[in-house]
Order: sequence, then C-alpha cells, then structure tokens
Amino acid sequence: MTRLAIQYGAVNLSQGFPDFAAPEVLKKAASDAVFADINQYAITWGSKKFRDALTAKTKRFLDIDIDPEREITVCCGSTEGMMDVLLAVINPGDEVIVFEPFYENYGPDAIISGATPRYVQLRRPDWTFDEMELAAAFNNKTKAIIINTPNNPTGKVFSRKELEVIARLCQKWDVLAITDEIYEHIVYDGATHVSPITLDGMRERTIVVNGMSKTYSVTGWRVGYIIAPPGISGAIRKMHDFMTVGAPAPLQEAGAMALGLADSYYEELASHYLVRRNRLLAMLRNARFAAFVPKGAYYIMCDVGNFLSAGGFANDIEFCRFMVKEVGVAAVPGSSFFGDPASGRDIIRFTFCKKESTLAAAEERLTRLTNLLPGAESKSHVGI
Ligand SMILES: Cc1ncc(COP(=O)(O)O)c(C=O)c1O
Repeated sequence: MTRLAIQYGAVNLSQGFPDFAAPEVLKKAASDAVFADINQYAITWGSKKFRDALTAKTKRFLDIDIDPEREITVCCGSTEGMMDVLLAVINPGDEVIVFEPFYENYGPDAIISGATPRYVQLRRPDWTFDEMELAAAFNNKTKAIIINTPNNPTGKVFSRKELEVIARLCQKWDVLAITDEIYEHIVYDGATHVSPITLDGMRERTIVVNGMSKTYSVTGWRVGYIIAPPGISGAIRKMHDFMTVGAPAPLQEAGAMALGLADSYYEELASHYLVRRNRLLAMLRNARFAAFVPKGAYYIMCDVGNFLSAGGFANDIEFCRFMVKEVGVAAVPGSSFFGDPASGRDIIRFTFCKKESTLAAAEERLTRLTNLLPGAESKSHVGI
C-alpha cells in the first residue's frame, strides 16, 4: 500500500511508521556515537551498555530482574527478534498458537521456522477471545503461543485476567509465551500494559520481543531485543549470530541513552498519540467509517461493509485500491491480518502515527468519499 500511495500521490495512512522527526536527543546521541568511532561490530548479543540500560528499564517498568549477561539478545529490530526466537525454539512438527487478526509477520515467521500456525480468533467488536476456543487450540504439539499486547492491528490491550487464562494454559501444556510488546508505552483511556513475564509462573516460560522502533519513533534504526531465560537465550543468540551477527553498534549506543529517558518521555508519548487517535477517530466518523476504538498501539480498524455494498466492491482489497486511486488515502486491507483472507474482507486498518498536516490532508481527501459513494449508510462507532 505504501508503494501504491507513492504511485498515486495518496496520503499514506497504511504502514505504521511515523512521518515526524525522531527525538532530538536520540539523533544527537546517534551522531555522537558515529563520531566517537563506535562503528565496528558490537558484541553479537548486544553492547554491554545497551543491555545494562535495558536491565535497568525492565526493573523500572516491570519490576523484574533480568541478567544482562545471560538473558538479553539485541537484534536488528523485533522483526529479526521474532524470527530468531522461532528458529531457536521450534522443532519440526511443532504448533504455534497465533491470535487473529495478527501482525502480518507472525504467520510467515511460524511457517519459515517449520511450525504449523493455529489461529484463535479475537472477535469484534472488543476483540475478545473465547476461552474454550483457546483451550481447544492447545495440545501436545503446541510449542508456543504468540501474544501481541498492545495489539496491532486491533488496538486491543490484553487484560490481566485474559493473560492469566493464557498463562494457566501455557503452564498446563508446558508451552512458551512469546510476547511482542513493541507498543508497551502506547496505551489510552486508563488501559495498562501487563507484560506476561510478570505473571505468576511465567518468568521462566516467557520470551519478550521488543524494540526501539515505536517507543522512540526510530523504525529505520533496526534495533530490537529479546529477553529470555538463559538456556533459550543461548539458542536465540546463535540464530541471531548466523543471521545478522549484530545490531547497528552506534545506534545501540544511542539506544542505551534512550532507554534511560525519564518517565515523562513515556507519558508524553502516550498523550501525543491520544490526541492523534481522537483526531483520526473523528475524521473517520465524519467520513462514515465504523471505527473500533483502540486502547493501545497506533492503528484504527474499521468495518467497511457499508462501503462495500454501496460501491459494489468485492472485498477489502478492491476497496483499498479505490481508496488509494480515487479518494487519495491509503489504508491496509484487513484480510492481510488473517490466515483465511475471507475473515477480514470487510475491514481495513488506518494508522495515526502521522503529523497533524498529514492527518489534515487525509481529512480533506476523505470528503471525496461522500461524493463518490453517496449511498453508504453511516454505521455507528463501535468501541472496545
Ligand atoms: C506488532 C509489531 N511487531 C513488530 C513490528 C516491527 O518492529 P521492528 O521495527 O522492531 O522490527 C511491528 C511494526 O509495525 C509491529 O506492529
């Protein structure tokens, strides 16, 4: 969709990368590191400075102690991190449970590692899962469950109660919880991020995958990290070594500084995105989209059934192409977040990690929808 947005000059609200500047202090720290000649390979599993800073931040926010020498692997973004983890823990024939809709990479990641993905539905409008359906997905072949909270694409923030249900099943079936917490600091409306690693009995079976991309608005730096028990970290470090050798050394140096930023940085990040969430919600409502109100991350899912019937579009993909070409706003077809594309054929995802001027340009373009599809009945706003 980003490529189509460029081709048709559309406002790009599809891919989740900020179009505003990264924090000044981070840019300065990165350039200082380059000029201080930190330009050669860092230690494979991450510079000591970064690992020590991460240990301190994990203690500060999650109140758990991790060993920087044996439990952290720094990698090239959490994307590499998820792949390293699956390659390290999966054996042929294993199954991995994935909640759906899911962040696009998990399905292919599971398949590349040799695992069979088993999907469990997060159901609209509040993206809850059915406990019986989840329990039925566990069996003797289940090696791991992937949990992404706060969630892309739904904006769901898993509650402590939901995570406890998952934790009990993980313990019952001796399953690993692989948790992608890349939006941990982006939550709204009093929602709290609960990391599964903090739950009773989960410390030794949780693998946290995270990174700097979203919290520090530096998706292009490619610095991520994995927190895992020592034995598993040993296997993960080997996978990471063979895949990329190491994450960018000067950016780990700047990352160490970023991880030490004051609490106010994280509070401001969340309030900055709250303003944008509310702005995009209002714009979408005016344009007659039925939006699911996100409690976290920076995406809004919308039911577009009204537009499909008004315009005679077969599915989300046709509608998104129309949106890019005729309306001038790019969004992601919902089917890309499902194992079976039919399950997402009437939803699309917008992102709001954009400048006010970008959102204003999208607002102006969205007014074209009314002229182009006058018959689309407005559906009510739906919330989590
Ligand atoms: C849930 C989730 N995990 C991981 C990533 C990728 O993160 P990274 O830039 O650290 O590879 C994204 C990016 O959109 C994401 O939404």
